[in-house]
Amino acid sequence: MIENQELKLIKANILVVDDNPVNLRLLVQILTAKGYKVRPVPNGKLAVSTSQAAPPDLILLDINMPNMDGYEVCQKLKDDPQTADVPVIFISAYNNAIDKVKAFEVGGVDYIPKPFQVEEVLVRVKNHLSIRILQKTLQEKNTNLQQTLEELKTTQEQLIQSEKMAALGQLIAGIAHEINTPLGAIRSSIGNLKDFFQNNLIKLPIFFRNLTPIETENFLKILNFSNQKNQSLSSREVRRLRRNLVAELETRNISDCHSIADVLVDLGLHQKLEQISPFLKSERGLNILEQIYQFYTLRQSATTINIATEKAAKIVFALKTHARYDSGEIQIKSDIINGIETVLTLYQNQLKQGVDVIKNYEQIPEIYCYPDSLNQVWTNLIHNALQAMNYQGQLTIDVTKEKNHLQVKITDTGKGISQEIMPQIFKPFFTTKPAGEGSGLGLDIVNKIINKHQASIDVDSIPGKTTFTVTIPMNLEEEIPNV
Ligand SMILES: Nc1ncnc2c1ncn2[C@@H]1O[C@H](COP(=O)(O)OP(=O)(O)OP(=O)(O)O)[C@@H](O)[C@H]1O
Ligand SMILES: [Mg+2]
Repeated sequence: MIENQELKLIKANILVVDDNPVNLRLLVQILTAKGYKVRPVPNGKLAVSTSQAAPPDLILLDINMPNMDGYEVCQKLKDDPQTADVPVIFISAYNNAIDKVKAFEVGGVDYIPKPFQVEEVLVRVKNHLSIRILQKTLQEKNTNLQQTLEELKTTQEQLIQSEKMAALGQLIAGIAHEINTPLGAIRSSIGNLKDFFQNNLIKLPIFFRNLTPIETENFLKILNFSNQKNQSLSSREVRRLRRNLVAELETRNISDCHSIADVLVDLGLHQKLEQISPFLKSERGLNILEQIYQFYTLRQSATTINIATEKAAKIVFALKTHARYDSGEIQIKSDIINGIETVLTLYQNQLKQGVDVIKNYEQIPEIYCYPDSLNQVWTNLIHNALQAMNYQGQLTIDVTKEKNHLQVKITDTGKGISQEIMPQIFKPFFTTKPAGEGSGLGLDIVNKIINKHQASIDVDSIPGKTTFTVTIPMNLEEEIPNV
């Protein structure tokens, strides 16, 4: 380091300015003999222009010169950012106090009176060069540090961004799955409808023409009955019913009893065996039953399509609500429970993996708030809860109305938060999760939104039970902004 400094000293570049050629030559000789690179200049104007063209490491500057004196030269150099840092040592025969003060005032670092002693000049030059070199090294280090800091900041931002994108990716994958399921149901139902039209439509006119009035009445009665069937049976119950029916049908000597049993259970007619058994004995009766089944399937497909589109529409609605940006800073009257439900809909897929959601909602009034921001609060708290219990356990959401405020409690049965980390969890970037899973910003965002609502948040945690309680003041009137 010191060797390095010596090396830099020797290589230093010094500008000597004096209108007296004898003085100029003498200074050049002394300094060159010490190994410095010296540029001699005979007047102030040239001194300024050469310094600006290639700033030296140090300037030895005479004061008393025609046209532009040393003070003016120094002033000009200090005014130009390119040369402002170059140390200037004045050399002059003006040996009185006022001149010295002026020399420092215009930015000089030192003053050597004439006639000068060679040793004095060399020592002062060396000292100021050392300071200048140290200063330059510090400046370089500072610039490097500044640059590194900027790079770190950018990297950090990129990391956060990519982690957030990863979380978003997961959410989108879940939602895609969630929309794909109803789409699959719609697709297969449409297949059923197409089959019906292709295979049955042509047979229907003859079928209806051949029905006797009583048969027509029975046809409609049974079809109506099967359409009203709304009990949904477990597959175990269905198997049991089928078994019993097959046995019954066998005792009644009805052929093809297995496929008939299937149809009867599907239509919900297993308890009506007495009434419909005459049907089952004749070829014609079986044909009527088959047609009833075809119409029943048609109706079932329509119902499935209905349910599936509603489900998909609900997910799209939740997404839209979630993605909508806060409409400026205006508070909107809104229902907090709706917001929580929206978030739950978005997490539907992750909840299905093994989370029981228990909702205890009291009747609450709509309040003035920033609904989209509050949705962020529920999203983060629910996401943390699910991660804490690894998507297995119980998520309880209590919404209650107190005297002047609403309270939302989100409780999970996860591993809990230890006392050691409790003071840290709201700090930005504090996370205990592996990279990619958490950036530690969730609760920081929550905190900011809570403050925006003049609300408060509390945490209670023991292993197996963690509750985040959000208390929001009940603003029933629109707040008049301070003007
Ligand atoms: N319900 C909870 N159960 C257990 N620990 C929790 C719970 N909520 C938060 N924590 C702890 O608090 C830390 C900070 O949470 P925060 O939501 O701020 O960040 P994160 O979840 O780690 O990352 P991000 O939310 O940015 O994806 C978590 O890493 C976790 O250790
Ligand atoms: Mg989080």
